[in-house]
Amino acid sequence: MYVCICNSVTDHAIRRAVRQGTLSFEQLRFELGVSRSCGRCEEHARSVMAEAMSNELPGLPAGVVLPDGLPA
Ligand code: FES
Repeated sequence: MYVCICNSVTDHAIRRAVRQGTLSFEQLRFELGVSRSCGRCEEHARSVMAEAMSNELPGLPAGVVLPDGLPA
């Protein structure tokens, strides 16, 4: 399913990025281009990323997205 229509970013792409080590939303934005145009997708993209992180990193509490700027 498309999360970001402006930049054709899917939930699968976000999950794959998290699996490959993307741990901040800024990094995700840089790598995939999500939320780089109108920004309407940001809240949903962050939610998909948080879900992916809790699935891929089970030690991380549910719903936590590491603050931008932390090393990946
Ligand atoms: S829908 Fe993602 S930037 Fe517009």
